[in-house]
Amino acid sequence: MNEAGCILRSGGLVAFPTETVYGLGGNALDEGASAKIYAAKGRPSDNPLIVHIADMISLQQLVKVIPPKADILMKKFWPGPLTLIFHKSEVVPFATTGGLDTVAVRMPVHPVALALIEAAGVCIAAPSANTSGRPSPTSAHHVIEDMQGKIPMIIDGGDVGIGLESTIVDMTCEPPMILRPGFITKEMLEEEVGEVSIDQAVLSAVSTDMKPKAPGMKYRHYAPDAELTIIEGPISEVMKRINQLTAEKILQGIRVGIIATDETKGNYHEGIVLSIGTRRDEETIARNLYGVLRKFDEIKVDCIFAEAFSEGHLGQAIMNRLTKAAGHHILKV
Ligand code: TXA
Ligand code: MG
Repeated sequence: MNEAGCILRSGGLVAFPTETVYGLGGNALDEGASAKIYAAKGRPSDNPLIVHIADMISLQQLVKVIPPKADILMKKFWPGPLTLIFHKSEVVPFATTGGLDTVAVRMPVHPVALALIEAAGVCIAAPSANTSGRPSPTSAHHVIEDMQGKIPMIIDGGDVGIGLESTIVDMTCEPPMILRPGFITKEMLEEEVGEVSIDQAVLSAVSTDMKPKAPGMKYRHYAPDAELTIIEGPISEVMKRINQLTAEKILQGIRVGIIATDETKGNYHEGIVLSIGTRRDEETIARNLYGVLRKFDEIKVDCIFAEAFSEGHLGQAIMNRLTKAAGHHILKV
């Protein structure tokens, strides 16, 4: 931790675990460190970073005002997987916010993340620690795949607990607006502060003339190398169609992967079948999603068919990531 803190204070980068996904951290108030983050990820520099803090005094330095509803949400959900957008203060460089007047802030609950922020003594800007476009890392092994040789330190804190990035809520508008769904759902937020809206970019394809409020939502994201198609409908029809499509592809000599569940995996007869977990426990499905996408990159399939997962409290967050990974390629049966 001491060494990690030294690296961060001197402008270097450290990858670290959080409860959502692994982050690639640098001093949030140091333009040079932000530039290194964009370079290591190969990320477009108009895509802003989330600033991670460990105490409320830091928040006051970063933002102009704290709206009362933000106060309520922070008391309820911080530390935890919720990112809030505020008007930024002068101290936050535009290099960190992708040129925006607003700043995204989150207080993680993972003990290693909190210890790291304290050891550094600075706020830590941290996007997910993946190469831009690839699925976010949910284990240190995933970070090594993408960042080995590019950064001086990766802290291995084991597998993450949630596996999907934090919920992002814009607090600079009224009502507050969800820019990215996550473990903290619309219902959970509305219980605390009343009406909350959702950015239209969350579940629909972002067209070229549409400007999503979270710049990151316009890029193809979380994506495996193979072409991914989601099959949506009654599960028996979904399985029938996936078997049929798989047989056709295999006849053409194409390597096929199938994202199935414990309940359905026995019904697929061809292709490489990976179970993402049981349909009875969507938290496991969320936790395994990125790992399964990365696994198919490793196995090198050409084409992936995935069942849809739209029920339950995490359904929206899971489908948001899966749909983006598929470039909005969904087949309804
Ligand atoms: O769970 C998480 O949030 C993880 C861990 C490491 O904390 N971090 C993460 O960061 O997912 P990243 O950079 O992969 O995603 C940040 C998202 C992007 O879509 C970005 O466009 C959006 O947050 N964002 C950041 N600042 C923003 C701002 N000021 N206004 C609107 N969107 C913003
Ligand atoms: Mg990311």
